Order: sequence, then structure tokens, then C-alpha cells
Amino acid sequence: MNQLVNVSMQDGAAGIAVVTVDHPPVNTLSRDVRAGLKAAFESLRGRADVKAVVLACAGKTFLSGGDMREFETGILVPGYHEVLRLIEDSAAPVVAALHGTVMGGGVETAIACHYRVAAAGTRLGLPEITLGIIPGAGGTQRMPRLIGLAPALDMMLSGKPMTAAEAAQAGLVDTVVEGDATAAAIAYARELAAAGKGPRRTRERAIDGGGQAAEIVAARRAEAAKTMKNRNAYNVLCDAVLAAVELPFDAGIARERELSDQVERAVEGRAFRHLFFAERELRRIPGLSAEVKPRAIARVGIVGAGTMGGGIAMCFANAGIPVTLLDAKQEALDRGLATIRKNYERSVSRGSLSAAQRESRLALITPALDYAALGDADLVVEAVFENMTLKKDIFAKLDAVAKPGAILGTNTSTLDIDEIAAVTRRPQDVVGLHFFSPANVMRLLEIVQCARTAPDVVATALDIARVIKKVGVVAKVCYGFIGNRMMDPYGREAERCLLEGATPEEVDGALEDFGMAMGILAVYDLAGVDIGHLTRVERAHLLPKDPGFYRPSALLTERGWLGQKSGRGYYRYEGGKRAPDAEVVAMIRAEAARLGVPQRKPSRQEIQERCLYALINEGARILEEGVALRASDIDIVYTAGYGFPRYRGGPMFYADTVGLRAIRDRIAAFGKTLDPQYWQPAPLLDALADAGASFAQWQTQQQQTQQQQTQQQAERKGQSS
Ligand SMILES: NC(=O)c1ccc[n+]([C@@H]2O[C@H](COP(=O)([O-])OP(=O)(O)OC[C@H]3O[C@@H](n4cnc5c(N)ncnc54)[C@H](O)[C@@H]3O)[C@@H](O)[C@H]2O)c1
Repeated sequence: MNQLVNVSMQDGAAGIAVVTVDHPPVNTLSRDVRAGLKAAFESLRGRADVKAVVLACAGKTFLSGGDMREFETGILVPGYHEVLRLIEDSAAPVVAALHGTVMGGGVETAIACHYRVAAAGTRLGLPEITLGIIPGAGGTQRMPRLIGLAPALDMMLSGKPMTAAEAAQAGLVDTVVEGDATAAAIAYARELAAAGKGPRRTRERAIDGGGQAAEIVAARRAEAAKTMKNRNAYNVLCDAVLAAVELPFDAGIARERELSDQVERAVEGRAFRHLFFAERELRRIPGLSAEVKPRAIARVGIVGAGTMGGGIAMCFANAGIPVTLLDAKQEALDRGLATIRKNYERSVSRGSLSAAQRESRLALITPALDYAALGDADLVVEAVFENMTLKKDIFAKLDAVAKPGAILGTNTSTLDIDEIAAVTRRPQDVVGLHFFSPANVMRLLEIVQCARTAPDVVATALDIARVIKKVGVVAKVCYGFIGNRMMDPYGREAERCLLEGATPEEVDGALEDFGMAMGILAVYDLAGVDIGHLTRVERAHLLPKDPGFYRPSALLTERGWLGQKSGRGYYRYEGGKRAPDAEVVAMIRAEAARLGVPQRKPSRQEIQERCLYALINEGARILEEGVALRASDIDIVYTAGYGFPRYRGGPMFYADTVGLRAIRDRIAAFGKTLDPQYWQPAPLLDALADAGASFAQWQTQQQQTQQQQTQQQAERKGQSS
């Protein structure tokens, strides 16, 4: 026992001991909690007056899961197995009192107890697979014994939590109660004691379905291979569950430990953990100390009720924040609101939203034509056509009507926000808020900190991101910010491979095989092939003098084959289905002949390397320029906004797993066989490759330097005051 775990005789006469964990906020199963549990159950061992034990938690949940920090330190003593074994060995029956969100180690503890009582509303899950690992505290051995082989596999392979009712149905909990789980568990324990019931150890149970293990596991493996391409944790999970069938319990536990260590060390497990910790880093911004207080955002205004404006309005309404949606014309407003209604209606018909929720969200959105309606907004997000003159005009109007201290955000994808900010008398309040389409769905929000954006505006934007359930990544002003700037060379290579002789399916197929959610050419078709093309026409004076540069895209736009919206682009679209288009391939071949591009078939590997290494090289450039603060921020941008596979950890993490020297050398080799103007290793990549270092190491070093600087500044401040 320690401060986190205590034992009391709640019902002395009946001999019911209650072990209570109280480790706010979510009763993480940390080392100290395990130590407390160990001491508690040791103290109860052999006590004749204890007829039954209840394991309960104070606060909003039963043990919610393990301590992520132990991934870095390794599991500290006492380990899970030792503690769970002690609980399971108890001579008096142990009843777990479950409530809240019980995940991973929390569930593994619950199933080491002998009985389980759950409050209605409890959710129970083994989500390890979503982090590229497997349950490692006996979950793979006990769960099949408790609920049967197939249901246990389904639970662990999906990673999805069960409701209390589902858990009862599955046999994972014995009873579901309304109200307080602890009180109900004490009553349950009293009944057990009165009936003279002893412990019911999960490890001693036979496995339902164990006789058909080979078939059951093979079917699940085949299913998972389809949904979890390029991954391996599901295979290892299946191996661990098979061990539960094939080996005695203790040997099974040893095998689980071995397999669990293996997946933790593997790239996949490291990649998911990297992203988990990378998200936590996002709020660490130089100059943004704890003293910087975010501004309060109670009302939001949006200018432009088009594709983006409508989606952004939904984000705020979904978070319960009232929105004024302004457009220049009544028809545009009507259209925008109709689209929003349609989107909510779709959610209602899918069952993810109730009709009442739809109405309350719609009621939060007020249409407006007059800028005066934006006067009480704490934040305005501009999302009108991508045109500098128009945006400047709107920012001048916003400057005139917005209240002092209101934040003025722009959703521009390509324009110089410093230039937009300069038309206002309050450039310190201007920030880029770059949402991704569809804005109500995509998790990424790039927060563009301009030259004069005030620190508290950045802090507020980071807070807003959290409120509207987005992941906010701070970037500096440059063409395309982090995401689109890096996309540029990636797309350039995809288009170049087309000119050299690859078909659209070959290019997209190679990228999808790597794990991208969608091939880039299919993405262009979805977004509109003309969108990128038109920005390149506008920026022609800044672009390479290369007649092949994004040439297929230009050809398609000239033909009016703009992608899904016109029924054909890189592909043909019929009845919502994508199909190859021989005419497009012939058109590109003819253009290649005209440009004198020698025909060859780039291999799948070459397509992948050219696109991805071009992306990574540009990533290195923007790190050097400070457009992105950290390599891990880039990884978040790409996994949250561009369909980069999470199991590869994002482009920069992936680069580290390949090895920067190998990538640098390949880029240099491409410089000899392909267009050398594109294939120069970025200086940072070159330097790290020479030093045998990684982006991760560079990031750690940068952070240490920053910390030292902050410390020195603080010391200087201390001395001068
Ligand atoms: N569509 C995307 O995928 C995407 C993604 C990220 C960012 N963006 C950026 O978001 C912005 C909007 O793009 P969109 O795709 O939503 O465009 P859109 O054409 O769908 O909508 C633009 C809206 O702005 C309105 N508008 C035009 N002039 C106005 C004015 N003076 N006052 C008020 N409203 C006015 C139009 O009536 C229209 O409803 C652009 O800056 C674009 O670059 C777009």
C-alpha cells in the first residue's frame, strides 16, 4: 500500500476488504500503482477474516491502462505479471468494480480478478494493436480463456472497445449495474462470501474454440492481412493467442512476453509510439512559455460559405461554439447551408448523430451577408476564393469591424499571409489556419505563425485545434507551408514517371503498396486536376524551366479532364467507379514523344523511391529553414493530413528507419540518371548522412540547444531584475 492504493474493511462483519486505487486523473497503472497493489494483496494474503476482496478505483474510471512512459524506461519493478499473479492467486475471491474507460492493462488486471461487476456506460478494450503492439500483461492468454478464442481474437485484432452490455454478452463481465460499481461489487462480494464461493481463476479455464484454433486463427490472419497491409503486429498477436491454446498457462505467458518485446522493438511499434509522443510535442513552441495565456473563444465568424467555409463552420458547431457564416451572396449562403444540412443528415442516416443533435448544431450556425455581424466574434476564419486582392480587401473589412483582440485567421493554401496581415492595423492578431478538405473530417490543422503573429494568438490556435478535435501543427510562412510544399516534389516525380512510361495505375499502385491511403494521381482527380495546375500557371515565373514539369496535369486541364468532377482525369469515372483510361495513357505517350522523353518502365521500387525521397529531401529543407519546428511535426502533418501510413511513422521517421545515408546516396545517384536540378541532397540531409545521424537525433540536439538558450535567458533576466 502507498498513497495511491489503500485497503479498508468496508463490510467488516461480512469480511469484505476493498482495495481502492486513487491515482488521478485516470488511474494509470503506473509503477507506483502496481507497487501499491502488490503491497495491498500481500497484506490480505492469509487473513482469515477476509472472505472476499473488491478491487475498485476512485475518480472517473477503473485502471485506464498502462503508463506510456514505461515504453522509454522499460517496465519497472514490480512488473505486471507479478502483481496480476498475486491478485489471481488470492484465496479469497476478488471482484473487480469497473467503471469508466478501461483499456489495455486495466482490462488485463480486471481479467486477472475472479469476478467482474461493471457500471453501465463502462467501456472495455484491448487497443494495443492500434499502437502496433500486443497485450503484454497476460491479455492474450487470459482473454481467450475468459470469452473464447474467436471473440478474444476479434476484440484484440480490432482494438475496438466493448460496451458494458457487449462485455456482459461476451462473458467478459458477470453483471452490469446502474449506479455505483463499487457498492454493487461489495454487494456481489458479500453474496459470494455468503454462498461460500471461492476464487474462479481465469488461467485455470479451458479455451472455448481451442479445438478449432488452427482454422479460427488462419481465417483471422487472412482477414487482417487485407485490412492491415504491410503490418506484422496482427501476425504476432495471432501467434500469442495460439500459444494460449498450445501451451500451459505459464509457458504461454512467457511466450507472450517474448512476442510482446519483439513487437515493441519492431519498426511498426516504434512508429506508432513515435506519433503518440510527437503529438504531445506539438504544443512546445519556442517563445510560448507557460505564462502565455490563450485568448477566450466563445463566438466564431467565418467568411466564405463554400467547400472549406462550410466544413469549418461544422467543426465549430460540432464543438458547441456558435458560428456566424458570412458570404457575399444570398445564393452562396443558401448553397453552403444546404450542404452543411446534407452532411449532418448523412450522419443521422448513418446513426452517428441524432436528429436532435443535427438540429442543435444547425441552430448554432447563423447566416449573414453584412460584415457588421462579425463584430462580436472572438475569431474570424476567412475561406473565400484563393485570390490575394480579394483576401486583402476582406482583411481590411475585418480590421474595420472586428472587436479589439479578435483573432483573424485565413485558410489560404498558397498566399503570403504576411502580405495579407499587412493590410490590417493588427498584424499581431493575424494567423494562418489551414484546414484540409473535407474540413469537418480531416484531422490536420496547420497553424501558420506569421512574422508578427503574437504568441498568445498561436497559443489560442493550438487550443482551438484541440477543442475542435484537430491536431494543430505550427508552421512558418512559405509557399505551401509544410504539407503542400513537400507534396510538390512528390507529385513532380509521380508526373515525371508518367511521362517516362508508367501508367497512372502503376504510379498510384506503387504508392498505395507503400501504404499511402490513396495514390497521388487519384488524389488530384478527387481535388480537381485544374487546382494545382492553375497555381502553377500563376507561379510560372518561380518554377523550373522544364517543359516536362507537371506536364500530364497541364494536358488534362487543357482538355477539360479535371478529375472526378468532370467524369475523367487521370482515370475514368463511371457510376462512382475508377477505371483506367487508355486515351489518357496515349495522350501522355504522344506528349513524351514530342518532348523527346526516352520511354522506359520505372519499377515499383523506383517510383516509390523517387516520390518518397523527393518528399523527404524537401522535408529536410524546411527543417533547415525553420518552416517546420521538428521532424516529428512533419510526421504528424503527413499522417494526419496526407494519408501517409501511421505504421511507418511519417516520412521523416521512415527516413530514419531506411537510414539517411542510404537515402542521400540514392538521391545523389538519381542526380546522375535523372534531372540533376531536382536531385541534390538537401544540405541538412547531406550533413546528417555524413555524420551517420538521424532526424530524431538532430531533433533531440535542437531541443537541448533551445532549452539551454531558454535557461540562459531566464538566468540573465533573473540577474538583471
Ligand atoms: N478546397 C480545398 O481543398 C482547400 C483546402 C485547403 C484550403 N483551401 C483554401 O480555402 C479557401 C476557400 O476554398 P474553397 O475550396 O472553399 O472555395 P469555394 O469556391 O468552395 O468557396 C469560396 C466561397 O467564398 C465566397 N466568397 C467569394 N468572395 C467573397 C466575399 N467577397 N465575401 C464573402 N464571401 C465570398 C464564395 O461565394 C464561395 O462561397 C481558399 O483560400 C483555398 O485555397 C481550399
